[in-house]
Amino acid sequence: MIKNIVNAPVEFSGKEDVVVLPLFQGHRELKGPGKKIDVLCRSGVSAYIRKSRFTPKTAETALVGFDFPKAPHHVLLVGLGERRSLSPERMAAAGGSASKTVKSRGFSSCHLVIDPLLDLDDGEDALRAFLKGFLLAQYTFSLKSTRDDRRGVKRLVILSDDPRKPAGALKTSRVVAEYTCYVRDLVNRPAADLTPRRMAEEAKDLAGDHGLECRLMGRREMEKLGMGAVLSVARGSVNDPRFIELHYNKGAKARERCPKVCLVGKGVTFDSGGISIKPWQNMNEMKGDMAGGAVVMGAMAAASRLRLPVEIVGLIPCVENMPDGTAFRPGDVVVTHSGKTIEVISTDAEGRLILADALSYSLRFKPDVLLDVATLTGSVSIALGTRIAGAVGNNQHLIDLLIAAGRAAAEPVWQLPLDESFTEMIKGDISDYKNFAGRDGSTITAAALLGEFVGNTPWVHVDIAGTSWTQDTKIPYQIKGATGYGVDLTVRFLGLVAREAAELTGPR
Ligand code: BES
Ligand code: MN
Ligand code: ZN
Repeated sequence: MIKNIVNAPVEFSGKEDVVVLPLFQGHRELKGPGKKIDVLCRSGVSAYIRKSRFTPKTAETALVGFDFPKAPHHVLLVGLGERRSLSPERMAAAGGSASKTVKSRGFSSCHLVIDPLLDLDDGEDALRAFLKGFLLAQYTFSLKSTRDDRRGVKRLVILSDDPRKPAGALKTSRVVAEYTCYVRDLVNRPAADLTPRRMAEEAKDLAGDHGLECRLMGRREMEKLGMGAVLSVARGSVNDPRFIELHYNKGAKARERCPKVCLVGKGVTFDSGGISIKPWQNMNEMKGDMAGGAVVMGAMAAASRLRLPVEIVGLIPCVENMPDGTAFRPGDVVVTHSGKTIEVISTDAEGRLILADALSYSLRFKPDVLLDVATLTGSVSIALGTRIAGAVGNNQHLIDLLIAAGRAAAEPVWQLPLDESFTEMIKGDISDYKNFAGRDGSTITAAALLGEFVGNTPWVHVDIAGTSWTQDTKIPYQIKGATGYGVDLTVRFLGLVAREAAELTGPR
């Protein structure tokens, strides 16, 4: 992450390494800061735009060098595409692309012109997305033995005549990008390193740094609470389970009548499948099966830094799913925290088991809103691909809020139907439920099982199995591996929930 980000007035001294200048397709002439630069470099920018074949398509870049006193040495033009087909996704891509170019050309410091973004109707959102893309594109993760080149942008100067204008967007996108990278780091870390115990230690450190309250439970406490599902999944691993409980703004609902939100995240630090073991292909990616839990941690830290007016309880069951002589088996029946029983058809459908315990435990906090985030099913990417997460819930209004949050965050979410027929499919023969009902609609049947453990609480589930990890190298603000998907989504969702305080905290 770029640590050094400052605001400065739109003035040039000629010492600037590179100035990033965003442009819309079909723009007529340079205005404001762009015009100022053009004058300093004797119309060099406008001449370049006219004569070159630079079309400001989204995320297209062109680097132009100048040698005039007082003019910046380089101007990086970055295309924003057409004004009318603008979207947060395109903005993030443009920001990411500019950022990658600045980095690959070896600049360690850069100036950014933001006027073309701020002038838009939803300028704040556009700027937020552009900056987020810019910051995320600097992310790297390496465990190589040779010190990789430490290049990267160290200093970003945001040019604006009124530094108050971009202040809000700047702060939010910095915080969101920082915790998105935090999630990427946790997800990218090998499972031998990030065990349930280590993840709990991370939560404790995070809580200390952000004024959150943190309670950690081990095997003993979970036994007392009757969390039979978490304990069953954990049984085959030498790495003991942990249950993380985080509180932000504890007691704020009672004091200030702000909504109380419970965030529940799947924290499987490695998912081998257990006795129903997975094939070897891509099993390495299963170190990322705690991405939902990481998102809960990142979003709570971000909420604290942004002082969001909500109360949050974060719950993360952390386990490693391994096969072993002591492991739980297909055919076993687990007694969950709620007392309801689930027959294990596949030990690889472990996420819904541990979440069943965590969700019913969450009800003791009487949340107004319950959101769970989980890499729950491989089939969600069969249905929606790897850029859109699947949402299922029992409250249409909350689902709509989540979809709206996803659109603004460029972390899109699509709703799948939760019809009674899906709940019928997971009814058990010798137990209340079974943890697998065949391939048909399996993202929904998994969610339907979760829905049996939330009572009447307004609840949404978001399946990030497709979106939390990428093999793609074409998205400018992502690299292969963890995406950190879900932090911006959750932070924006919390913001929308906070705005509806009165409706959500009223009598139910
Ligand atoms: N962690 C996986 C889901 C997953 C798959 C996450 C691919 C990320 C990428 C989950 O625990 C799982 O194994 N799901 C099974 C369920 C099946 C056995 C019912 C699946 O999706 O195949
Ligand atoms: Mn699994
Ligand atoms: Zn899993």
